[in-house]
Amino acid sequence: MNPLEQLNELIKEIESTKLEDAAALEIFRIRFLGSKNILKPLSSQIRDVPNEKKKEFGQLLNEAKQKAEALFEQSQSISGGGAGSVEVPDMSLPGVPVSMGSRHPVSIVMEEIIDVFARMGFEVAEEREIEDDWHNFTAMNTPDDHPARDMQDTYYVASPPGWLLRTHTSSVQARVMTTRKPPIRIIAPGRVYRNETVSARAHCQFHQVEVLYIDEGVSFADMKQTLHQFAQALYGKEAVTRLRPSYFPFTEPSAEMDVWFGLADEHAHRITKGTGWLEIMGCGMVDPAVLEACGIDSKKYSGFACGMGIERQAMIKYRINDIRLLFENDVRFLRQFGSVV
Ligand code: DAH
Repeated sequence: MNPLEQLNELIKEIESTKLEDAAALEIFRIRFLGSKNILKPLSSQIRDVPNEKKKEFGQLLNEAKQKAEALFEQSQSISGGGAGSVEVPDMSLPGVPVSMGSRHPVSIVMEEIIDVFARMGFEVAEEREIEDDWHNFTAMNTPDDHPARDMQDTYYVASPPGWLLRTHTSSVQARVMTTRKPPIRIIAPGRVYRNETVSARAHCQFHQVEVLYIDEGVSFADMKQTLHQFAQALYGKEAVTRLRPSYFPFTEPSAEMDVWFGLADEHAHRITKGTGWLEIMGCGMVDPAVLEACGIDSKKYSGFACGMGIERQAMIKYRINDIRLLFENDVRFLRQFGSVV
């Protein structure tokens, strides 16, 4: 067969080929389009073609290449991937990027608070969110008819009767004091629930951190110093704090701790209600009635407790103006905290 005849044969072969699967496609690719394809040696045989046929030969050679390419491309799209799917993956291609998740702003602040108390020797105590009335209220010196119950509008579960969604993490105080012996030094983070109308400032679920320290001879001065150290660790060495008298059924005396925030701009005015002071927690000396209710000798032991809300801290820290953003799980909101490690 002379080169011209050979070429005509190959064109016929291309025209009659049907590429039905990836393997056939690959064999065809190697034969007609690969770096050692069959048309290559043929093209150098042009010198054996008579002069008057050289032009025709050149044109047929091009036609063969084009037909092979067209068939290959057409079949590749039909067989869905074709040659690529039987080839070893190209390891030099850039990889698929692994997207980093981000921590929730509530978790970030919660862990920061836990970290400070952990360094002071407090141990994390986690407890149930579905609580009984006794641990949530009665043991905390808030009996059935106590008006302070009104401040914590409660979700009760259908059964068993008297069980509820805890309204504060103070219930963990009762859980721990009834099961452990002093010295007790715990920090209890977790979710709490109140029947509040959901708005930009309030939600029916939020997070608190409770701190409890019980030992012999614990004084109000110990509390003041511990909480002041905490505030400085969280807000910076220059943080200024103050204790303001307050009332809680389970502490006596009770106080609220404020941190000086200043009145530099409108934001500062708004969140401090024009006072410059930011209220960060409730605290006080554990009421002897609470110690006794939990089986701890109030003549021998004393202690302090404090409780703080996490959402508020997170909202101040990250200038979030609507608490609902913290519970909607919109990734566009959450992604903004990706850089906080
Ligand atoms: N349980 C209180 C609340 O939810 C906060 C609180 C105040 C906790 C004083 C304490 C405390 O431990 O001593 O409003």
